[in-house]
Amino acid sequence: MSKMRIAFIGAGNMASSLIGGLLAKGLDAAQIRASDPGAETRAKVAAEHGIELFADNAQAIQDADVIVIAVKPQAMKAVCQDLRAHLQPHQLLVSIAAGITCASLLNWLGNQPLVRCMPNTPALLGKGVSGLFATADVTAEQRQQAEQLLSAVGIVVWVDSEAQIDAVTAVSGSGPAYFFLLIEAMTDAGVKLGLPREVAKQLAEQTALGAAHMAVASDVDAAELRRRVTSPAGTTEAAIKSFQADGFAASVEKALSAAAHRSAEMAEQLGQ
Ligand SMILES: NC(=O)c1ccc[n+]([C@@H]2O[C@H](COP(=O)([O-])OP(=O)(O)OC[C@H]3O[C@@H](n4cnc5c(N)ncnc54)[C@H](OP(=O)(O)O)[C@@H]3O)[C@@H](O)[C@H]2O)c1
Repeated sequence: MSKMRIAFIGAGNMASSLIGGLLAKGLDAAQIRASDPGAETRAKVAAEHGIELFADNAQAIQDADVIVIAVKPQAMKAVCQDLRAHLQPHQLLVSIAAGITCASLLNWLGNQPLVRCMPNTPALLGKGVSGLFATADVTAEQRQQAEQLLSAVGIVVWVDSEAQIDAVTAVSGSGPAYFFLLIEAMTDAGVKLGLPREVAKQLAEQTALGAAHMAVASDVDAAELRRRVTSPAGTTEAAIKSFQADGFAASVEKALSAAAHRSAEMAEQLGQ
């Protein structure tokens, strides 16, 4: 791990997971600072991670190479506008806020190197995936720093146009909920087929986990994996045919389009 110094503005769930992940990857606690208005939050994060915390955002960012803004989207404008006077030109800003565009952020912060990220909830367990977009002012070294930072809680993919962040939001940002929905529906269906709820739940959850592991570990794509477990005239084929007859792929496409559309719409509202 490099010797970068990182400041977190907001020490809530996502910041705390990133801090925990960075420390686990070998960053020294002295390299990390954070600020948060909540005295209880500050005490909890200090006790858990052994880092220094501040009530004042400006104090936390002194000497930082990278500043991660980890507050709720609704608080972003005020936080950025307050930080503006305290920033040094070389400091990399990293936003993990859903739905706030680089144009809005730069408008509030002034011209700074900026990386916009879209992480997802499994990051809280170190199993996330984040989509990253860098503005033109970000150096190669800063790209690496942003990548190291988000890699602490999962894997990282770069996109080369900011509009693709709406698609990232639709696929992985909101994605965990689609899998929860499937687990929920499979559990209910298992109960209807005669299983005790707890058993149906365990079967559905572990099947999702096992299938995801297989998909990640395999060198063939999901379509091929599916074909391999679908014997002609077998039970899996019966289920897949039923899904297809009900327009499964079209339904997924429509749902993700709705999410991407909403992401763009929210960016417009939150950017005011
Ligand atoms: N959690 C996820 O799975 C997830 C996934 C993707 C993206 N994100 C993004 O990550 C960001 C943080 O989410 P989160 O779940 O970590 O939220 P969170 O737990 O509410 O953390 C935000 C923290 O920032 C503090 N805060 C509020 N105003 C502040 C200010 N002016 N200066 C400094 N700190 C301030 C809050 O304190 P108070 O509670 O006292 O207001 C809170 O402790 C959001 O923008 C969200 O869109 C989260």
